[in-house]
Amino acid sequence: MARVLIIGSGGREHAIAQTLTRSSKVDLILCAPGNAGTSSVAENAGINIHDHAALVTLATERRIDLTIVGPEAPLCSGIVDRFEAEGLHIFGPTAAAARIEGDKAYAKRLMKRAHVPTAEGRVFERYNEAREYVATRDTGVVVKAAGLAAGKGVTVCPDPSDALLALEKIMVDQTLGEAGETVVVEELLQGPELSIFALVDGHTIYMLDSAQDHKQIGEGDTGANTGGMGAYSPAPIATREVLANVERHVLVPIVDALRGDGAPYRGLLYVGLMLTAAGPKVLEFNCRFGDPEAQVLLARLESDLYELLEAVVEGRLDQAEVRWNPKPAVCVVMASQGYPAQYETGKIIDGLDRAGAMSDVQILHSGTKRVGKNIVTSGGRVLGVTALGSDLADARQRAYAAVETIHFENAYYRRDIAEKALSPTQSTS
Ligand code: AMP
Ligand code: GLY
Repeated sequence: MARVLIIGSGGREHAIAQTLTRSSKVDLILCAPGNAGTSSVAENAGINIHDHAALVTLATERRIDLTIVGPEAPLCSGIVDRFEAEGLHIFGPTAAAARIEGDKAYAKRLMKRAHVPTAEGRVFERYNEAREYVATRDTGVVVKAAGLAAGKGVTVCPDPSDALLALEKIMVDQTLGEAGETVVVEELLQGPELSIFALVDGHTIYMLDSAQDHKQIGEGDTGANTGGMGAYSPAPIATREVLANVERHVLVPIVDALRGDGAPYRGLLYVGLMLTAAGPKVLEFNCRFGDPEAQVLLARLESDLYELLEAVVEGRLDQAEVRWNPKPAVCVVMASQGYPAQYETGKIIDGLDRAGAMSDVQILHSGTKRVGKNIVTSGGRVLGVTALGSDLADARQRAYAAVETIHFENAYYRRDIAEKALSPTQSTS
């Protein structure tokens, strides 16, 4: 029997832990640092995700067979390299391969080199040059800080004069610190967005079923970008043709290019795409599972997650088989009023047991902690209420029925999660 350590503390990590409880191969799950939700399916260890040395010690002392890294920051700072140097099994890319997320300038150059379709863009290290370039543009642009910026690095500017302001904030006022030392300016693309996930073991690529999140805080996909306010799987716009196109024109060439750079990719590769009139184009790569996309994808996974991730780490993904529950899943994120800006925490959450007992419903915790006998809010995104249903409309209804039984002061959630997947206009939204 295997012992697993999960690094992270969000809804994605709770979803991974919850899914591993269904594995016949796993008998111990540790979560560092975890949250109130993970503590009911795993043992929480109070170690910071950035403390590589303490995490190595934990994995060694607790005889961990496989470590799974949730968030991007430890991947980009080399936790996989560190674990591998100690001979420990860990799921995720090395720092060199994680640059595909951590350095958007590198990702852009790699895509160009590998002829992967993406927005036309240029990389700038000097403010004056970036400003001159933007000043010559008369169509919309997107300004992206090259480094990790916790979802705050992208400014979409339909009017190029807004881009001048964004450049000034990032490159002159340095509002994002080091992450904004280099900037990518690219053309503004139009079309519906789609996320594709693939397991990659260095050579073999195994595309997972599709999932789509809602990034914006407001209904109708309006307002500030967040980590994700909800998700659904599968995404109806991910047709067989689209998936085949992305595998052939994006995944195969990018995985080859990384290997060619001496940075073979092992882990989960997340491709953010826009389905433009000229075909799918890449917006970004992420080097880990999406949150809350993992909540809906993993709710539908019927295969043993431990076996799958081990197959990636051991480079034998070609022998793996992934089975999905055909029932669609919907996840509605309940957040603290004010997120993604200022919000209050420490609010007592009621109704969790009742909601969790509803059929085909899972309450996955993002920002929660235990205080005495209560579970209280401790973050912007608090819960991912996830339900399976006979179809997408049914899954949606079940998720919202569960949401309505949960209460905390100043709870905020969008009421239109997955609606765009149900409406006939979805392909143009
Ligand atoms: P990213 O983190 O690069 O995925 O960007 C965050 C969000 O900004 C995406 O989900 C899109 O909604 C939007 N975005 C990024 N790049 C572009 C682009 N070139 N054209 C239009 N929208 C974009
Ligand atoms: N939900 C978007 C992300 O995980 O990056």
